[in-house]
Amino acid sequence: MPLLQMHRICKSFNGVPVLKDVELEVEEGVVHALLGENGAGKSTLMNILTGTIPKDSGEIYFEGQKLEKLSVSRTEELGIAFVHQELNLFNDLKVFENIFICKELSGFLGHLKKKEMIQRCEELFKKLGVSIDPKAMVADLKTSDKQLLEISKALFF
Ligand SMILES: Nc1ncnc2c1ncn2[C@@H]1O[C@H](COP(=O)(O)OP(=O)(O)OP(=O)(O)O)[C@@H](O)[C@H]1O
Ligand SMILES: [Mg+2]
Repeated sequence: MPLLQMHRICKSFNGVPVLKDVELEVEEGVVHALLGENGAGKSTLMNILTGTIPKDSGEIYFEGQKLEKLSVSRTEELGIAFVHQELNLFNDLKVFENIFICKELSGFLGHLKKKEMIQRCEELFKKLGVSIDPKAMVADLKTSDKQLLEISKALFF
């Protein structure tokens, strides 16, 4: 059974069909490339998968379970993450602060557990083979490191 199955997905914008009975199957542990010319509908399909926009029709199965009423928070819970073409990072914050944005580790009276967040960030980067300083400012990173940070962030949660 595939990990993810998108079946007969249809989507139109203002009456113009963009996705027509699209089929996508993803197996666990396999990297797939979704290729197509500009405007082919790749982002639209991924936006449907992450619950960013609704589909007109079709079905989505994840780990054998039919997904209904998709939303960004629901797909996050399921472990589906999307790294956007455009970077969604806060340049004025540090690397570890970007990893934990809106999911900060805090203790008594909301006191931020900075040390723990930095340590968790170091562990994450070590596991992924990424050499970025968790305490660096995002503004100071090379574009390629910013992309690695986005991917690391998606994998972390
Ligand atoms: N919110 C929207 N409203 C109206 N039309 C849209 C909307 N989003 C996408 N489209 C149209 O749907 C079609 C598919 O767009 P989409 O962004 O999914 O293509 P893509 O394959 O990701 O392209 P690219 O390679 O440029 O990223 C395009 O014709 C686009 O103009
Ligand atoms: Mg796109």
